[in-house]
Amino acid sequence: MNRRNVLKIAGVTALAMTVNANASVDTSAKNRIEMSPKDPKKMEKGELKHTPLITIKDKDAKGYTLVEINIGQGGIIHPSTPEHWIDFIELYADDKLVGKSILEAEISRGYACFSVKLDAVKTLKAKAGCNLHGIWTSTVSV
Ligand SMILES: [Fe+2]
Repeated sequence: MNRRNVLKIAGVTALAMTVNANASVDTSAKNRIEMSPKDPKKMEKGELKHTPLITIKDKDAKGYTLVEINIGQGGIIHPSTPEHWIDFIELYADDKLVGKSILEAEISRGYACFSVKLDAVKTLKAKAGCNLHGIWTSTVSV
């Protein structure tokens, strides 16, 4: 490694340390492994807690249907603490990303809703990211 590369690395490191010093920037590592229940028909408590529940609600006068996503099923709601929370929820219509919410630890819990046009849509898929337990997905037919 030559002197120029060493200086570049030192500069990047100094920049990273500056970013880490800024309390408003979340630098914590998050688990981004794609997860799935062992048996989707008989989910365990930890699986129920992370699996998005997609609820299709009413269509409005402009043709947008309200789609709610709760993280947790069977009466189990995923916690939201400074150490453990759902940090994002995405909604896909026929594999196209149509909505994304970024959630803040403790102050927000794993819930999002989007108004989307579903006229030609066949499936909805929700993805939720738990900072500790990875990314969980649910799919429903429309
Ligand atoms: Fe979790």
